[in-house]
Amino acid sequence: MFCSMKEREASTVSFDPRGRIIFALDVPNTGDALRYARLLKDHVGVFKVGLELFVSAGPEVVKAVHDYAGCGVFLDLKFHDIPATVIGAMRSASGLGVRFATVHTSDGASLLRAAVEAAAGVKVLGVTVLTSLGQADLAEAGIDPAYKEPLDLVLHRARLAKESGCAGVVCSGREASAVRKTCGKDFVIVTPGIRGKDDHAGDQRRVVTAYDAVKNGADYVVVGRPIRDAKDPQKAAGRIASEIERAHREMGG
Ligand code: C5P
Repeated sequence: MFCSMKEREASTVSFDPRGRIIFALDVPNTGDALRYARLLKDHVGVFKVGLELFVSAGPEVVKAVHDYAGCGVFLDLKFHDIPATVIGAMRSASGLGVRFATVHTSDGASLLRAAVEAAAGVKVLGVTVLTSLGQADLAEAGIDPAYKEPLDLVLHRARLAKESGCAGVVCSGREASAVRKTCGKDFVIVTPGIRGKDDHAGDQRRVVTAYDAVKNGADYVVVGRPIRDAKDPQKAAGRIASEIERAHREMGG
């Protein structure tokens, strides 16, 4: 069985592109989640549990996926609340043994610092600007016109996340190279909004291919629908792994 993300992360000699794929388990129940875990456990490195699955199946599904697949789980609940509540939520996440958990960066450093302090072993990722948002959405949300370009807001929030002790950020592949330049090589960059040329963007706005995301400096790509809805999800994951491998090779890795 694959899912040796920890080993892959520790390894300096071998690069396994599958370890860079985070599959979004955006499904409505535990049965479907375990079906995809079974299908993809040798093809991706991390399974992501987000709002849809967590609201329907609760913390037990996090444990079930972890035990079943034996690999890292990313709890993507994008915490956004007062510090005391986020501290409690982060402690609970830590008790579940998840590898990554997300917090919105839009509420500033004090919330991020509180989340990091409570995280105990969980890598906290700051969500910068959702990949489903474009320039017009930021204006509609009342974002200061000084940050009307998603890139400017992403960089501002990535800096904040880094200064607050977050392990990394979630941003689109379009901003990955600027975030890498600003935040340095040890900062984890996770990029959703991954689409191949034949994939539907759906609700995503700031999309790139897995190849471009990695070339731009992403450590991980988050992929949901392009794998979940593929006729052959294993093949779709394999195609993404080949893109990641090619990008890594061309970068001299
Ligand atoms: O189906 P698709 O590949 O668009 O799924 C992307 C996944 O990444 C979803 O689970 C979504 O919640 C998550 N995500 C995102 N944008 C962010 C953070 C997380 O799309 N900024």
